[in-house]
Amino acid sequence: MKKDLISIKDLSSKEIGDLLDLTAKLKRNKAKFAKVLSGKTLALIFQKPSNRTRVSFEVGMYQLGGNSLCLAPQEINLGVRESIKDVARTLSRYVDGIVIRTFEHKNCLDMAAAASVPVINGLSDFSHPCQALADIFTVKEKLKKLKDVTLAYVGDGNNVCNSLLFSAAKTGMNINVASPKGYSPSEEVVKSSLEIAGSTGSKIMITEDPVCAVSGAQVVYTDVWASMGQEDEINKRKSIFKDFQISTKLLANASPDVLVMHCLPAHRGEEITDEVMDSKNSVVFDQAENRLHIQKAILIKLLKESR
Ligand code: CP
Ligand code: NVA
Repeated sequence: MKKDLISIKDLSSKEIGDLLDLTAKLKRNKAKFAKVLSGKTLALIFQKPSNRTRVSFEVGMYQLGGNSLCLAPQEINLGVRESIKDVARTLSRYVDGIVIRTFEHKNCLDMAAAASVPVINGLSDFSHPCQALADIFTVKEKLKKLKDVTLAYVGDGNNVCNSLLFSAAKTGMNINVASPKGYSPSEEVVKSSLEIAGSTGSKIMITEDPVCAVSGAQVVYTDVWASMGQEDEINKRKSIFKDFQISTKLLANASPDVLVMHCLPAHRGEEITDEVMDSKNSVVFDQAENRLHIQKAILIKLLKESR
């Protein structure tokens, strides 16, 4: 039966562990996997801009011996020119997998329900699973473990934050989330993460105090204050989020060797200072690189092994 990747919540802890193990092998030995997806094609549908997601998926398919094609918003005009269901059913006759970056998470679910090939969420307003998987791979690569690691996410309780919460809960990593009042992750996501955490030992803290969140943390993570589609709110958000900037001063409360993470693109001078972005603690470009390796593992699992 075909498998999709729509939310980390849908993956078991074992599936996540297997993906991380395969990613490490792919990163170590590129040549060994050069023909694994020979003859396969991946379609990428974008309703929003992208650098990392688009390039890493396209390069990943190429490195695995397959092909990819990128469909810009005006080409497919999803849901306007044709229904999502009909796009999904048509593409399923041509390609072996579909990546979709969209506004409403429901579009991912509708695409997955109608497609007969695997569908991968390349970012929705609710989640960004490929990013969070690359992130936990990066943490494990740097710190050699996830259990007993505390990641502090400081900023908007957005799609990236939701996926990090589920990833932490599933893997036993601890996570503290600090957001301004009204910008915390939804109660539903927190409740569901806490339920999952009960079986893995992950500790989850939700706070409005960034200093409290980063205290003793080994990893500090942030993302833009206004996500794609919220650009008109940026001025309002700049004043609401001003105390949530990742600065050297805030990091003084974290572990001395703290890893600084950001999914990118970063708005330097807003959610993160230049000084921190360019410091020796920053692993943001390792994260970006690991998008390639983790997505190659995802593609192998979904396009080859689960079909
Ligand atoms: N982090 C991330 O998804 O980057 P892009 O928006 O450039 O794809
Ligand atoms: N939260 C950001 C992530 C970008 C990769 C957004 O949705 O725009």
